[in-house]
Amino acid sequence: MMDRTFKQAIRISLCSLLLLAAGCGGPKKDADAAGGIEQAPDTMAIGQQSFGTLPDGREVTRYSLRNTSGMEIGVINLGGIITDWTAPDASGNYEDIVLGFDNLEPYLDGNPYFGALIGRYGNRIAGGSFSLDGQAYTLAKNNGENHLHGGVKGFDKVLWQAEPRQSDAGNTLELTYRSPDGEEGYPGNLDVKVTYTLSEAGELDILYEAKTDKPTVVNLTQHSYFNLSGDFSRPITDHMLTLQADAYLPVDAGLIPTGEIRPVAGTPFDFTQPKTIGAEIDADNPQISLGGGYDHCWILNGPDAGFRKVATVTHPPSGRRLEVFTDEPGVQFYTGNFLDGTLPAKGGGTYARRSGFCLETQHYPDSPNQEAFPSVRLDPGETYSSHTKFKLTTN
Ligand code: GLA
Repeated sequence: MMDRTFKQAIRISLCSLLLLAAGCGGPKKDADAAGGIEQAPDTMAIGQQSFGTLPDGREVTRYSLRNTSGMEIGVINLGGIITDWTAPDASGNYEDIVLGFDNLEPYLDGNPYFGALIGRYGNRIAGGSFSLDGQAYTLAKNNGENHLHGGVKGFDKVLWQAEPRQSDAGNTLELTYRSPDGEEGYPGNLDVKVTYTLSEAGELDILYEAKTDKPTVVNLTQHSYFNLSGDFSRPITDHMLTLQADAYLPVDAGLIPTGEIRPVAGTPFDFTQPKTIGAEIDADNPQISLGGGYDHCWILNGPDAGFRKVATVTHPPSGRRLEVFTDEPGVQFYTGNFLDGTLPAKGGGTYARRSGFCLETQHYPDSPNQEAFPSVRLDPGETYSSHTKFKLTTN
């Protein structure tokens, strides 16, 4: 089985040849100091290639968004899944820093939402039910007694229309999907558009928009698992996290918020100052026990401040830094507690527990059933809009 680096070299070389043939190749960058793979030409580019075929015969396509520094993000139109994100470390070594699979099949069976767009409702809805204007709606209970991530066939499992284009902002992939009235039990025909844009500054900008023809609920998010070391065999417990959140939502045994808003001060949930993810991940704390580590929604400071920086993760050994910006009120910080070493890792091996972390920007879990939480209702004539940016740089 070809190892990942060799495959990457093949892919970048093929892409370079295509770009050169198209007359849009730029000067090749020298191989990095470590004698690693040659970098792509200094050209913004959007490639596309087959990623396989669904059981019903529909084609899955991988789109590659690249910037002139050689950063590349791979996205497939199945679930808007980010399959790979290749980025430099402080020494200029390019490595993939998101969990995923080398081919389509594992994405079709048992994917723990690696890289996926999530909807109609990201996170949980208690009891798989909610009411709107006196009308009760029943959803799949696909997570114990609760509904998770849009149900059995959420947005992570549908085929999106994909439209690649270049703009001044960078390389863009526009994904659209019509969720029909009643799909997974939700009311209203929902037209969704998610726009991924990779900038020259290494920012993945994500804009979510949706419209409905009936009152409904919407809470979209992106479920990439990051490992900034670029080595999927290493745990993420040595990463440093800063989270601009003075409070979080304690949960019950089903990971449904109890409704209490609890200060983080003096608890393992306090990341207001940089702290390694592993420092208190196994602390003797009832909420840590319920989550099997961190698997909670933090209430982000400045909810009225609109689009702001809410989190920073650094990996000192590689020098990589991830900054997260959003206009959302909450973020689910999940430390891959359910990964169990059974899923095949890219390049070989498997994904062990805590080999990746997620920062899923969102409204709070179970908001349709908790009036005190910010509303997730969307009415006809309104536009749902949510904006998140992941900025990947080096120290
Ligand atoms: C979210 C949930 C976790 C887990 C993952 C997917 O992060 O909060 O409990 O279900 O999705 O595995």
